[in-house]
Amino acid sequence: MTSHRFQPSGPLTGRIRVPGDKSISHRSLMFGALAVGRSRISGLLEGEDVLATAAALRAMGAMIGRDGDDWIVDGVGVGGLLQPEQALDMGNSGTSTRLLMGLVASHGITVAFTGDASLSKRPMRRVIDPLSTMGASFTPSPGGRLPLMMKGMQPAVPIEYRLPVASAQVKSAVLLAGLNTPGITTVIEPVPTRDHTERMLRGFGADLTVEEAEGERIIRIHGTADLHPCDITVPGDPSSAAFFAVAASIVPGSNLVIENVGLNPTRDGIFRVLAQMGADIEKLDEREVGGEPVADLRVRHSQLKGIEVDPDVVPSMVDEFPVLFVAAAMAEGTTVTSGLEELRVKESDRLSAMAAALTGAGVPLEELEDGLVIQGSGGAPLRGTASKATETHLDHRIAMSMAVAGLASRDGVEVDSTEPIATSFPNFMTLLDEAAA
Ligand code: S3P
Repeated sequence: MTSHRFQPSGPLTGRIRVPGDKSISHRSLMFGALAVGRSRISGLLEGEDVLATAAALRAMGAMIGRDGDDWIVDGVGVGGLLQPEQALDMGNSGTSTRLLMGLVASHGITVAFTGDASLSKRPMRRVIDPLSTMGASFTPSPGGRLPLMMKGMQPAVPIEYRLPVASAQVKSAVLLAGLNTPGITTVIEPVPTRDHTERMLRGFGADLTVEEAEGERIIRIHGTADLHPCDITVPGDPSSAAFFAVAASIVPGSNLVIENVGLNPTRDGIFRVLAQMGADIEKLDEREVGGEPVADLRVRHSQLKGIEVDPDVVPSMVDEFPVLFVAAAMAEGTTVTSGLEELRVKESDRLSAMAAALTGAGVPLEELEDGLVIQGSGGAPLRGTASKATETHLDHRIAMSMAVAGLASRDGVEVDSTEPIATSFPNFMTLLDEAAA
């Protein structure tokens, strides 16, 4: 493990461009692999999680390679995935695992999934349950975890499934299984989650409809589907931009432009909540990239104010709470968050990991079952960590959030390992050096 001390920083200035969206990158490769013919992807995130998806799809027969800065995928067609010769190593990536389990569920192949220590603790029952109803069978490790073996069913049985937990991964797993399932597979979403699967599958030619009824979304996919290849431009990842938006908001004197930020309304909650806290975020050059709304964001330092965060916003910023907690730590007054049970089953238990990390950096807070209550410093630098390094628990977002805390601290913040950052944001440290130079 490589520990790193993130030192107090001067203002963040200039222009940076964040890498491609992780969710869209995974899906670009997967849907390209299921199309008949050649798809071209520009702006793909070359993070470890996405590379795990690429390796798994190659092991199941797709041809995936680079052409200059673009990625090329020659698909096998829906129903054409081959049985891999070895276990698929999913590394740290829950998205790769759950979405690929969905794909495998309706192919007549047997696949073993393995992952790192973090992924092996994460719950897979949430996908095993609906995919079993469709006909797939599973031999998971105790507690419904990885490593696991699964056998797909071809033809699988279409189901109507009401999501018991607000999860785009579970929604996507069922819809992807539905691609190779004759008939109509239906997912009912009581709370909307990120909708990249729906938007992109339509773009690849799937017969997919979305109906809104009494606040719920009813998504139907007609199988079996024929997907045609696509040229895709992946917009920048709002989840990556969030670290810089918070950093520029809390470091005095900052005036930073973050280019090419995806602002899909199912993903942009962090920017809305920061604005409610008084952040100075201006959208420049609003446009569309790859069917998604995109803008450059100019973020200037401002004194944030503590707020009570509406739990309804949680699905649209589920990955951004760790860094929001850092913003709250620098705000004037108290920030109260709730409805965050899902954070406990991410790459780490993000509520307890951030509670411990911020407490270690001198931030007064209370950890509740479903949220944190944070007393802000009113703009005074956080104390930082003296001797004990912050534990990141193999979680990229804990590492990057505490890096941001270090910038706004008196003593700096030592992070026990920066390696996990490469799962989603390989050039984070370089961009940080550039912006804070
Ligand atoms: C993702 C969905 C989210 C998010 C993850 C990526 C996706 O998980 O935390 O980083 O690409 O579908 P859940 O939908 O399980 O909350």
